[in-house]
Amino acid sequence: MRSASAAAALFFFVFAHSGFVRVHGGEVTAELLYTNVTVKWHADYELQMVEFSIWYGEKTPDLLFVGFSDFGDLNSTDGLMISQREIKDVHTTREYRIRPDLQQDFQQVRKRKDHIVVSRKLITCDSRDYAFQAGTTQFHIAASWGYSTLTNIMDKRWIKDKKFGKVLEGPTDYPSIEDEPASLEKDVKIVVVNSNSPDPIPNVETTYECIIRKMPFDTVETMYHVVRMEPYITPGNEHLVHHMEVFICRDEVEEWNGNCNDPKKPAKSKSCSHVIAAWAMGEGPIIYPREAGLPFGGKGRDEYVMVEIHYNNPDLHKGVMDKSGFQFYVTGMLRKYDAGIMELGLIYSDANSIPPNQKAWAMNGYCPSQCTQHLPKEGINIFASQMHAHLTGRKLFTSQYRAGVKIGEVNRDEHYSPHWQHLQQLRPVVRVMPGDTLMTTCVYDTRRRSKVTFGGYGITDEMCVNYIYYYPASDVEVCKSAISNVTLREYFSQRHLMNGQTMAISDMYNKVKDWGNGVDEEFYNVLNVGNMNMNCLRSNGEPHKFYTSDPRQSWENMPRPRLFAGSFVKTRDRFQCPAINDMINFE
Ligand SMILES: *[C@@H]1O[C@H](CO)[C@@H](O)[C@H](O)[C@H]1NC(C)=O
Ligand SMILES: *[C@@H]1O[C@H](CO)[C@@H](O)[C@H](O)[C@H]1NC(C)=O
Ligand SMILES: *[C@@H]1O[C@H](CO)[C@@H](O)[C@H](O)[C@H]1NC(C)=O
Repeated sequence: MRSASAAAALFFFVFAHSGFVRVHGGEVTAELLYTNVTVKWHADYELQMVEFSIWYGEKTPDLLFVGFSDFGDLNSTDGLMISQREIKDVHTTREYRIRPDLQQDFQQVRKRKDHIVVSRKLITCDSRDYAFQAGTTQFHIAASWGYSTLTNIMDKRWIKDKKFGKVLEGPTDYPSIEDEPASLEKDVKIVVVNSNSPDPIPNVETTYECIIRKMPFDTVETMYHVVRMEPYITPGNEHLVHHMEVFICRDEVEEWNGNCNDPKKPAKSKSCSHVIAAWAMGEGPIIYPREAGLPFGGKGRDEYVMVEIHYNNPDLHKGVMDKSGFQFYVTGMLRKYDAGIMELGLIYSDANSIPPNQKAWAMNGYCPSQCTQHLPKEGINIFASQMHAHLTGRKLFTSQYRAGVKIGEVNRDEHYSPHWQHLQQLRPVVRVMPGDTLMTTCVYDTRRRSKVTFGGYGITDEMCVNYIYYYPASDVEVCKSAISNVTLREYFSQRHLMNGQTMAISDMYNKVKDWGNGVDEEFYNVLNVGNMNMNCLRSNGEPHKFYTSDPRQSWENMPRPRLFAGSFVKTRDRFQCPAINDMINFE
């Protein structure tokens, strides 16, 4: 994937003459049999238009289909069909047939030998059009050579590919043309942390590989700033490297690499627990703003980093050699601020579990004022955000409240995909003051599950996390909540007559046989108003002090913050202004 800045630079080059002002640009490239088709876009917030230019090279296809959807289904999806003669605004039916829309919303801007430019309103209020909103869009790109009248998108004569992109970056995002590697500090060194020689990726589905390294220069007395980080992936293995996490070790360890569960892994690596970066498939680099860098070294002893690589090898490929790792850009010319990273959302716990068969089950993770009080007096500036959930996560967002009233959002993905975890750069930065509340919401779809989905680490468990990257650094590393165990135990014993004192929470969830008949609605309400347990943790894993004059209050079983919002917001109303994204109405 191109970085936002590269995409922006590209757009300035290509579209500089078009007069669009507040724009965001990007592109995806589909690899089809005879050619690569690149779809580039730029969206104009003032005109509420998006312009797509579609490049197909020398071998012009006889038919080209570009589909837009939230979750990648090819049935009931919006599309644009381009033939030699014309462009058509189309949609597919449930039976995958391609039909022209009654209302045609695409305009042709120009056509050349190797590309075509079209434009459309972001939101057309046609129930057969896709509404471009902040969040992930899945692009289905299909071409045919030699056939010009294909009427079903599943027809084998199509050559298809699917890609992910964000047409709109959300209300707070602007392209950033700064921070190209070339414009970094003159002394920047690039450090690659990877295994010294290629190792085979095990032919099992899931492997966690750990690499522990010392920085290759003196970090004992001198502090450095990391100003950019990115994965370093062995070419050809992109599909196997699922995600990575990067940690700083508190203790002096020793250099090592191997399976993270290997008993020979140095015991002191337990101290490698301070997360400094998280990266997942599909994501670009992590770029620090001009005024901040991630501190490293200067603590009077060697500091080590640990990179944890999660390989996902579902096809059990054998003997694939790999030398992937992480790459750091480090400067000794310290920037004005030290940067930090904080984890918001839900505690990984089976307390936070989701009933089966729910279309849109929302769970809220709080970072309340009692914890943000520990932030620096002048507040923090969030410059990037990365949201994470597992397979049933559909919408993820974090809102900011001051004095109980919603004042804005940090980040939002209206149609999240676990297969494309985007690190969102926020420009301008979002400022959070001590005493603010941050609420992270994850909406899950468990309609394909017949059992409870537990909160936890496994890929079939669920999570709700927003990693925020910010400056100046503070000692709040985790600010997450869970429904309180006391509330849960009361609920299960009173409503379901279980032995709430002794049973494990997971057993209580499992023992509810029928979540229908209003039980789910009732439990949803308990989740919304019940007390919560908080993790408000320092980087050494210890909880922060809970300031209160009431000795009965603590991080455990504390009342939920009381939050308010206006009774109307300026957003697309799905009854006045329908879109194919909502077709769920007609199931
Ligand atoms: C398409 O792009 C890929 C990756 O950039 C490249 O390897 C391949 O040769 C390209 N194919 C064509 C037909 O240009
Ligand atoms: C589209 O197909 C998928 C997978 O077969 C199915 O789950 C979904 O309900 C279908 N959507 C519609 C709108 O028919
Ligand atoms: C709540 O229960 C979970 C297990 O379901 C446990 O991991 C956690 O420690 C408990 N929390 C408290 C504060 O007792």
